[in-house]
Amino acid sequence: MAESMKGLHRTHRCAELGTGNIGETVTVMGWVQKSRNKGGIIFVDLRDRSGLLQLIFEEADCGAEHFAKGEKLRSEFVIAAVGKVEARSGAVNPNLATGEIEVRVSMVRILSEAQTPPFPIEADSRTKEEMRLKYRFLDLRRPDIQSKLMLRSQVATKVRAVLAEEGFLEIETPILIKSTPEGARDYLVPSRVHHGKFYALPQSPQLFKQLLMCSGYDRYFQIAKCFRDEDLRADRQPEFTQIDMEMSFVDVDDVIEVNERLLQKVFQDAIGLDIPLPIPRMTWQEAMDRYGSDKPDTRFGMELKDVSETVKGCGFGVFTGALEQGGSVRGINAKGQGALPRKKIDALVEFAKGFGAKGLAYAAIQQDGSIKSSFAKFMTEEQMKALTEAMEGEPGDLLLFAADRNKVVWDVLGNLRLEIARNLELFDKEQFNFLWVTEFPLLEWSEEQERFVAMHHPFTMPMEEDLPKLDSDPGAVRAKAYDIVLNGTELGGGSVRIFQGDIQEKMFEVLGFTKEQAQERFGFLLDAFRYGVPPHAGLAYGFDRLMMLMTGAESIREVIAFPKVKDASDLMSNAPDVVDQVQIQELGIAIAADEES
Ligand code: AMO
Ligand code: AMP
Repeated sequence: MAESMKGLHRTHRCAELGTGNIGETVTVMGWVQKSRNKGGIIFVDLRDRSGLLQLIFEEADCGAEHFAKGEKLRSEFVIAAVGKVEARSGAVNPNLATGEIEVRVSMVRILSEAQTPPFPIEADSRTKEEMRLKYRFLDLRRPDIQSKLMLRSQVATKVRAVLAEEGFLEIETPILIKSTPEGARDYLVPSRVHHGKFYALPQSPQLFKQLLMCSGYDRYFQIAKCFRDEDLRADRQPEFTQIDMEMSFVDVDDVIEVNERLLQKVFQDAIGLDIPLPIPRMTWQEAMDRYGSDKPDTRFGMELKDVSETVKGCGFGVFTGALEQGGSVRGINAKGQGALPRKKIDALVEFAKGFGAKGLAYAAIQQDGSIKSSFAKFMTEEQMKALTEAMEGEPGDLLLFAADRNKVVWDVLGNLRLEIARNLELFDKEQFNFLWVTEFPLLEWSEEQERFVAMHHPFTMPMEEDLPKLDSDPGAVRAKAYDIVLNGTELGGGSVRIFQGDIQEKMFEVLGFTKEQAQERFGFLLDAFRYGVPPHAGLAYGFDRLMMLMTGAESIREVIAFPKVKDASDLMSNAPDVVDQVQIQELGIAIAADEES
């Protein structure tokens, strides 16, 4: 039967005890990990968030006024125990922080009983994720998850401390805001008071932090919840957390320098990692040309090579056709993979097609120097030789080529490079390669909308020297935008903002907004800019991604207490769910019938 805590006061967490406490009388509380009765002597592994502690007591003389004799202490019961810390009577357990001690219990009390959990509460559980998320409250008891969430808390604390030292103010911005879609899809909240009107949940605090700069707060930060209704992936959740900041009277280098200090201190404090400063920088163009990605994983080579010049005028129509269309032919050299079986090469071709490739041309250089290739028959021997040399191909290498529009070629080879590296384990999982990617294009052509859209957001400042191109060649304008990349994941991104009314107007024009539309959507920001706006810039990290990479987790779900699954639902609480008809009526909305039903 469960008892109250009356008269008891916890003195220590389980793993806070050590040989230094021998002789002390302590009170500990927690969950029974395991309990065994060896001929009247009961051993209990007691667990709390700090770790495990062995309790030992004799049923007969533990003096437990509340402990019903003979009752079994089952796993996950919550108990309190009072006893004396002693050196282990049995063998010392070197795998346990408290392995040299045990607590000889004089009194034990069951605080609550527990049903048998649907899966064992232990590290590295092989339980299916679906099950774990349905019973997330139990899953969260597992020590590997607990250590990740505890580290997350430590990092948040350190971020606050470092940013406070750097003169940042923590200011909250609203969650119910006006919808200003430009980027992902907004989550909408219907208004009860204003029928037919909606709030949006913020995709980021972007506009508000810029307003705070207009209001003179100078340096702002926030650990902010953000909401984006987009397709989920391992590193994307519909609600996620940013470490968000904005600074006044700064340019690119100032933002980068503050953030390098922040990253260095945080990684040192959290995992003892020493990040050498400055962090390397690479322009977007160089990242694309060398890695086919704007978030290159620089832990391994296998860089892309542009062989357009080499194959110009060759006999292979796929190559020359792509060049004639204004595209390029590029390749990667998978060193030592020349003997890859045909089946595996076919799998790589299929993988490439998943990224929009029409095909993937390959040349496997055999040990005797001969070449097995899908396209050599269209080439002269000299042309093949020149191509092999351009790729630094040696006997035993596998050369893979994509020919298409640049965008497709980069995407295909960039992803192929990662896939091959994953298959061959070409990188060290313990290594942390940070990289700033700078000078992003300002705009991106949207085939879908048939207009330019902002690559980052509409408030990003073009590079001064590219300003004249805003009219003549908008697609070629580079932005004062930067991303911080860690091991091939975009950890954060930001930009210098436009603070000049005329440039902002021009930007809206290029994006295809009329003056009225711009005023309607972003009027409050544009108004604020008319009353004295400091030059400003900022950046936001994905906090969940940061923790995922720091802890080596496979997905951000592992570092979020209550994450959602692929279809954006919560398996534990069953959100989203239907609501009462009354609630819907109050909002003045109606649910349209499903088309199929
Ligand atoms: P951006 O859209 O690049 O910039 O977002 C910043 C960082 O947030 C993380 N992130 C996500 N993490 C988990 N799930 C998601 N769905 C998700 N979407 C983004 C990424 C990303 O680098 N306001 C600007 C920042 C600025 O300009 O200051 C912004 O939101 O790690
Ligand atoms: P085909 O003549 O279409 O059989 O193609 C010959 C080889 O070129 C095959 O290995 C195809 O996979 C490859 N290929 C086809 N299109 C492309 C492309 N756009 N880029 C690279 N290789 C391609």
